Amino acid sequence: MHKKLFIPGPTEVREDILDVMKTPMIGHRSKEFSELYDSVIPKVKKVLYTENKVFLSTSSATGLMEGAIRNCVKEKALNLVCGAFSKRWHQITKANGKEADVVEVEWGKAILPEMVRDALKTGKYDAVTFVHNETSTGVMNPIYEIAEVMKEFPDVSFLVDAVSSMVGVKIEVDRLGIDVCLAGVQKAFALPPGLALCSVSEKALKKAESIPNRGYYFDFLTFLKYDQDKHQTPTTPIISIIFALDKQLDRFFEEGLENRFARHLEMANYVRDWTRQYFAFFPDEKYLSNTLTAIKNTRGISVADLNKELGKRGAMISNGYGKLKEQSFRIAHMGDLTLDDMKWLLSQINEILGL
Ligand SMILES: Cc1ncc(COP(=O)(O)O)c(C=O)c1O
Repeated sequence: MHKKLFIPGPTEVREDILDVMKTPMIGHRSKEFSELYDSVIPKVKKVLYTENKVFLSTSSATGLMEGAIRNCVKEKALNLVCGAFSKRWHQITKANGKEADVVEVEWGKAILPEMVRDALKTGKYDAVTFVHNETSTGVMNPIYEIAEVMKEFPDVSFLVDAVSSMVGVKIEVDRLGIDVCLAGVQKAFALPPGLALCSVSEKALKKAESIPNRGYYFDFLTFLKYDQDKHQTPTTPIISIIFALDKQLDRFFEEGLENRFARHLEMANYVRDWTRQYFAFFPDEKYLSNTLTAIKNTRGISVADLNKELGKRGAMISNGYGKLKEQSFRIAHMGDLTLDDMKWLLSQINEILGL
């Protein structure tokens, strides 16, 4: 039996979207591909509220995190760490031989604007890495407030991982002044894994010109060249998923972006009410994520057993991430899931746990 995915990625993909992936293959250097590219890119700009360049990367999101570091960190980065994925930014920065300092909060807590201001006031950094929605802890960091602080430091690049929030939560890239905003399509886009995308500001592209050793696969200036000259990607992309993305973006506009964001919040609120009734939140309640809820296992249930039972009923949730396994568990409400899906899931959990 297929288990419906209530995990924070990959998420459930609709049948009609899977069908689009059966579209016969086209050459990546063909006019047909350039037409597909020209259809997709403006739609991605629209969902990101940006006029910045948008690049499609055949990789998971981590690839573009590496790209952002290689292209946009010149002297030293400030890595804002509040969980496993924001820590990954630090690991990537160091692994690429760049200097970095960390400002870290306890897992479950949010990054706050004053922490960013205090660190940037030292003048030591030319880039900040940030995770909007920390999937490991269920924290959604206050990106609008932090973006205001970033505007006080216009020479510092703002590198944003919006992997598990993009298109589930409104992120107005231009208004926020984000230099690189990246995600993989296997989360709130509700597409199969294999494609990542990012917006890159004019300022970041200019900065990249002055940075040596940008690498090869994720060199933003190569992406820019192929975008401008050919309306194509530098290397052979995952064309089937780009077909699916094109269709999925149309579906977003049919639903309405605001409605899509509201549906995510409605599902989140339903799961939050249930969490308050039966368990507790793992993260600080002031910064709950709209796309997933991380639940503190206050009843000492076996999360593994719960998931086994759910599997028999055709659903799957996530255990806590890494060190949080069994201490917490995560229910995702992202992508194309509906309030009815959440009601069904929680009724199954109630039955299994006898709540
Ligand atoms: C917030 C966040 N950042 C980065 C990643 C890494 O994404 P990928 O597995 O597509 O490289 C994930 C994956 O779960 C994530 O949730």
